[in-house]
Amino acid sequence: MSPRIAVLPGDGIGPEITAQAVKVLNALGRSFEIEEAPVGGAGYAASGHPLPERTLALAKSADAILLGAVGDWQYDRLERPLRPEQAILGLRRQLALFVNLRPAMLYPELASASTLKAEVVSGLDILIIRDLTGDVYFGEPRGTRRASDGPFSGCAEGFDTMRYSAPEIARVAHVAFRAAQKRGRRLCSVDKANVLETSQFWRDTMTEVARDYPDVELTHMYVDNAAMQLVRAPKTFDVIVTGNLFGDILSDEAAMLTGSIGMLPSASLDANGKGLYEPSHGSAPDIAGKDMANPLATILSAAMMLRHSLNLPNEAARIEAAVRRVLAQGLRTPDIWTAGTHKVGTGEMGDAVAAALT
Ligand code: IPM
Ligand code: MG
Repeated sequence: MSPRIAVLPGDGIGPEITAQAVKVLNALGRSFEIEEAPVGGAGYAASGHPLPERTLALAKSADAILLGAVGDWQYDRLERPLRPEQAILGLRRQLALFVNLRPAMLYPELASASTLKAEVVSGLDILIIRDLTGDVYFGEPRGTRRASDGPFSGCAEGFDTMRYSAPEIARVAHVAFRAAQKRGRRLCSVDKANVLETSQFWRDTMTEVARDYPDVELTHMYVDNAAMQLVRAPKTFDVIVTGNLFGDILSDEAAMLTGSIGMLPSASLDANGKGLYEPSHGSAPDIAGKDMANPLATILSAAMMLRHSLNLPNEAARIEAAVRRVLAQGLRTPDIWTAGTHKVGTGEMGDAVAAALT
């Protein structure tokens, strides 16, 4: 039976970039059952909710999900539960997609597109593993209230709850240690244990899980230092594991090391390897519909999907090789264009990758 893929294009550049990934999937010479549904602002426009029931049902029943991006300025004034971002958070929670893999690697052809010096980033190949369902993102209680203590007692305040349970930390830890075993066997856990109780607990739990993986070297780093080391000497990292909030910030920082956030795929996985795959970047409404967006992060996300959820590692490798080939041919979307290379649009880039498949 052919694998069933839910394609959720979303907002902004989402539809253009997912169309390129679908083009490449269809050029592999295998059969996929591809079904689309609206999500984010498009979901709200279609049926009054960013994650319509039909979309959620499709995502649940499919073998894997490929998502474009969500968010558009026209939805920024909606109340929080109706905003496009809630679709992503809802999918993570409803499908128990608890771990996020964000590889940041620099293609040698793009070393000059980075804002950092080429020698600092050339050959970069790191993997950020982030928890997706815990931390202040989902911790209760949260809201606004009147402060009942402290110097501002009696004043209105906003509050969230940072919390992690031991099994919640351990399951991310296991994914991270196993990923490190397949790479350079070095895992750096990032926290803020000098200040936060939650972080000290995170650190202790990581250290405990490390006993099962004597072949992996575990180190710990405070998040402020990690943010600095990522721009000072990013190549010293192999695999980074961290919580939801720190991971959100560090993964954007790591993405930028590679020259363009338009190059980086991501995977959000459940305990059985089912996953949601999406580019690490956002919906870029300012360039939507202009045939300017870089579709490579989405195309590479489709490759991750083939590898992690659909057990088609050869097809994944074929896509990754095709992407390297078009970069070597000098084709560049505007975000990664440098003098002497050939500027192409979103559709042309998708065509080129499909044509470069062997
Ligand atoms: C990400 C995004 C999301 C997050 C938003 C859209 C809720 O920034 O996937 O990194 O904060 O996790
Ligand atoms: Mg983010």
